[in-house]
Order: sequence, then C-alpha cells, then structure tokens
Amino acid sequence: MLDQDGLDALRAELLTQVAAAADSRGLEEVRVAALGKKGRVTELMKGLGGLSPDARREAGQRLNAIKDAVAEAIEARKAELAEAELEVRLAAETIDVTLPARPFTVGRIHPISQTVEELVAIFGEMGFSVAEGPHIEDDFHNFDALNIPPEHPARQEHDTFFLPPRGAGEAPLVLRTHTSPVQIRTMQKVAPPIRIICPGRTFRADSDATHSPMFHQVEGLVIDRKTHMGHLKGTLIEFCRTFFGIDDLPVRFRPSYFPFTEPSAEVDIGCSRQGGTLKIGPGADWLEILGSGMVHPKVLVNCGIDPEVYQGYAFGMGIERIAMLKYGIPDLRTFFDSDLRWLRHYGFVPLEAPSLVRGL
Ligand code: PHE
Repeated sequence: MLDQDGLDALRAELLTQVAAAADSRGLEEVRVAALGKKGRVTELMKGLGGLSPDARREAGQRLNAIKDAVAEAIEARKAELAEAELEVRLAAETIDVTLPARPFTVGRIHPISQTVEELVAIFGEMGFSVAEGPHIEDDFHNFDALNIPPEHPARQEHDTFFLPPRGAGEAPLVLRTHTSPVQIRTMQKVAPPIRIICPGRTFRADSDATHSPMFHQVEGLVIDRKTHMGHLKGTLIEFCRTFFGIDDLPVRFRPSYFPFTEPSAEVDIGCSRQGGTLKIGPGADWLEILGSGMVHPKVLVNCGIDPEVYQGYAFGMGIERIAMLKYGIPDLRTFFDSDLRWLRHYGFVPLEAPSLVRGL
C-alpha cells in the first residue's frame, strides 16, 4: 500500500471523491474518511512506525504530500460548493424590487370634499375658523332671527322642507335652507370678535340641472368693533382670486337684498363666453357666485349683540356652484349620483391635501 503505485492510486481516488462531493455535507464525509482521526491517510501514517527509517521518511513525505493535496482540494471544493449553494438560495429567495405595488384601486376624494378643504385652507389663512350647526333647524334660527318673519316673502323663495307638525302653536322644524342659522348660533354662543366660516349641507325642495334638493353652502361671518364694507370687499376679492387661481380676476359687487344684511351685495366674477365655452377670467361677461352684506342691526340684537358697539359682515355661497365653475363639471345632479366612473374622473387623489403653499 505504501509503495509508489499504491499511494498514487490512493491520491487519485481521494481527489476523485473530493471532486464528486455533491454538497458540503458530502464533502465533510469525504474529509473525515480520508483525513479524520480514523481516516485512511491518518491510519497509514500511524503504520509508518513499523518501517525502516529511510522507508519511513520517504513514505511519510509522500503521505504528507497526499494529505496536503487532499486538504487543498477539499478547501477549493468547499468554496465552489458554498458559492453554488449561495446561488441556489439567491435564486430561490429573489425579491423583484422593481415590481409595481399590487394593483388595488385607490379611492377618490369627492369634488365637494376637495372644495371644502380648499375653502378651509384659504379662509384659514385669513384667520377664520370653522363652525358647524345642525341640519334640522327650528324656525327661529333658520328664519326669525335672520330677520325673516313669518309673512316675509323670502320664506317662499326658500322652498323649505318641513318636518311633521309639532305641538299646537309651535312652528314645525325644518331642514335648514341655508347655512345662515349657524351665524345665529355662533353669535349666541361666543362673544365678538368672531371670524368663522361654516361649510355644510343645506336643503331646498328644488331639482334640475342647477338645483339639487340637498346641496352645500359655505357661510362666512365676521363681527368686530370696526369691521366695514371695505373688509368685506377685500376678503371676498382675495378669496375669489385665490380660489380660482387667477390674479387679475375681475370681481364686481352688485347691490342686492337679503333680509339679514344691510347693505347687501351680490358678487360677480369676470368671464368670457366664446363658442359656447365658459372661461373664468377677464372678459366681457359676469357670473354671479355669492351673496354678502353687512350684518343687519336687527340680527345682532336678536343674538344679544349691541349694534352700537359691534358690526360685521356675512357672506354665503353654493359649494357645488363654485366647484362646477372651477373644475368644469357641467351638471349639478351628477354630484350625488354615486357613479364611480364620474368620481374617478372628477375626484381627487387622496393625501394631496390642498394648501396655499403648494397651490390649490
Ligand atoms: N343665506 C343666503 C342664501 O342662502 C346667502 C347669504 C349669506 C347672503 C350671508 C348674505 C349673507 O342665499
């Protein structure tokens, strides 16, 4: 066995086994069987003691050379196998980071919600806070306190939804026909100075392309000691230009009448109509967008505020109307059809909250 041929055969056999090891565990078995404590090379080395000194040295050198060669081959094979195993793992555990996110449908923000957010952003910047009131109102807050007594013709124009009759002598409750009752509730509750807007739902028995029985208004109210018509004009001009994003948008104040403001003004913005398309901005035409005026002294008195000390202004506008004008939505009824195709078209991407810094 320890002769030249025997050792050459052993060497060849061991190296073949190393090369044939299919994985690191198989390779370890080959190593133990060859170089381990009871391995074939180790056993042969133990047997050297029985040889003559010369033969021992010679055979010892050869065995050492075989041992080194096999150890070296094992190391090389080990590295090869480790690499192959890593490749297999990488292939199996692959994550394609370029894959798009799972295709789920993102919801849309309704144009009314979006417009309310825009109103809040604009008036918030001017120092207004948001107030709310109930949808079901009593006669006092919706009409009387606003200087609309029972016989007043303005009552007819409101196309009011009445709730079933209450006790004898009590006026029925109503679905609020405008957001102006929130003016009353706010003035009853907090002492001036007051600076609020109240966006919310309103109800009138009316339905066509420009009217819906449920719609939205935003009310504004400012009460302070020295508030005058100039403040009203400045605030509303600034609002119109910011909301429509047109710096030179013409804004016109036209004398009008509301029972709860004196003087009253309706506000028009400039537009042009060419070939049937409406364009907001400097032009030959005007579009009415809101009602406004200085709060009537009787309204202040109704809320326990002294008109000799305090005065202020109020305004109100339809949210659908300004949203339709800004976003080119032709029919008001579609706002409440709950048609997903409509919402995907006219809706807004969530998480893109309107802000004046980013632009509206
Ligand atoms: N409440 C009025 C309406 O519904 C709008 C308005 C509010 C007008 C405040 C003037 C002041 O038509």
